[in-house]
Amino acid sequence: MIRGATIADVNAIRALLKSVAGLWDDSWRDDVLERALTSTETVALVHVDGESVDGFICAHDVGFRAYVSELVVSPSVQGGGIGSGLLSEVERRLSRRGCSIAIADVWRDAEPFYRSHGWTPPPVCLLRKRLAGGSIEPTTVE
Ligand SMILES: CC(C)(COP(=O)(O)OP(=O)(O)OC[C@H]1O[C@@H](n2cnc3c(N)ncnc32)[C@H](O)[C@@H]1OP(=O)(O)O)[C@@H](O)C(=O)NCCC(=O)NCCS
Repeated sequence: MIRGATIADVNAIRALLKSVAGLWDDSWRDDVLERALTSTETVALVHVDGESVDGFICAHDVGFRAYVSELVVSPSVQGGGIGSGLLSEVERRLSRRGCSIAIADVWRDAEPFYRSHGWTPPPVCLLRKRLAGGSIEPTTVE
């Protein structure tokens, strides 16, 4: 069953993300999941089998476009249609919000999966920069 992700799912989602080698980034903030899930512009879904969370997708409506920032299915149930269900449902919910473009930076291994869902490469390149992160400047009151 696919349902909206809630803050109560954080530990299960963290464990799921860590179950796929290379997916979890240790440079992320400790509360990365709490922040992602509680933003009003986030569309986050989990796939659950009984008590077990075995799929997760997270997307963000940022106005000009939407970003799919995470998609993961538990290795033991990959290939069973869960990823397709999550991606289709997040696309439907983003579309219903009025989003006309969704983008995602995806692992090269997952490119055929996205392409099979109609995703194509846009005529741009993806750049990134590692930020200092963690050095929060104090607020000055004048
Ligand atoms: C990519 C991922 C989310 C797909 O979820 P899934 O539940 O395994 O996918 P589905 O069962 O819905 O697969 C749908 C189709 O995509 C194909 N597919 C799935 N993963 C694939 C991959 N890595 N490479 C090529 N094809 C893939 C399946 O064979 C299937 O094709 P079919 O319907 O013709 O048989 C999942 O494999 C996963 O979590 N991978 C590790 C993390 C990852 O790569 N995340 C992607 C975002 S960075």
